[in-house]
Amino acid sequence: MSQRDATDVFSEWAEKGKDKGMEKGHARSVHAMLKLAGIPRNEHYSAIDVGCGNGWVCRTIAEDKMCTHVVGVDGSAQMIGKAHAIDEQGEYHLALLPDWEPSQKFDLVHSMEFLYYLHDPQTMLKVFYDKWLNDGGMLIVGVDHYLENEDSLDWSEALNVHMTTLSIEQWKTAILEAGFDEVEIHQVGKKEDFIGTLVLLGKK
Ligand SMILES: C[S@@+](CC[C@H](N)C(=O)[O-])C[C@H]1O[C@@H](n2cnc3c(N)ncnc32)[C@H](O)[C@@H]1O
Repeated sequence: MSQRDATDVFSEWAEKGKDKGMEKGHARSVHAMLKLAGIPRNEHYSAIDVGCGNGWVCRTIAEDKMCTHVVGVDGSAQMIGKAHAIDEQGEYHLALLPDWEPSQKFDLVHSMEFLYYLHDPQTMLKVFYDKWLNDGGMLIVGVDHYLENEDSLDWSEALNVHMTTLSIEQWKTAILEAGFDEVEIHQVGKKEDFIGTLVLLGKK
């Protein structure tokens, strides 16, 4: 059986209300990531959340008064529909990546549990660097599916969705080769039975 598109699977999740559970499940790691990204900040900044699901991270970032503009993008119509329903004034784009580019650059590009659904996440990191980030801007990416997280290695088969499985070292090489400086690699949100969300942070 051919693999399904991740966005179709997540549209079904949104229809069943499973986006809420995902939000709850990811909150611990995302809060740690936002802290690593220096949020709340003391200078104005713009931000985009890539693979934003129902948009909850955008709304969390928007609570920081220094954030002047926050955008979400996701390829699932149902997820983006939810984001618009919850937050009518918010800016959410329905778009399939990597075939979409924002019309402006940002000071912060954030992404949680999205990048490995792409067939070539390494090239996406380069595109974030070249086309999405302002000079001096920061990228912060969290992934739970990576080689060292053995519990995550059957997810692709279980969901029948493509996942690109990279090791911590391969993710580190990818962010460095994309051109990022001041690269940091973290594992956050660890629990007894979870080795943590792998976080890649870099500056342009
Ligand atoms: C695991 S969910 C994470 C959602 C959100 N970041 C969160 O933490 O709740 C992955 C999201 O990535 C989106 N996605 C997957 N592949 C995509 C693609 N090629 N283009 C755009 N969005 C995609 C899915 O629709 C889904 O909403």
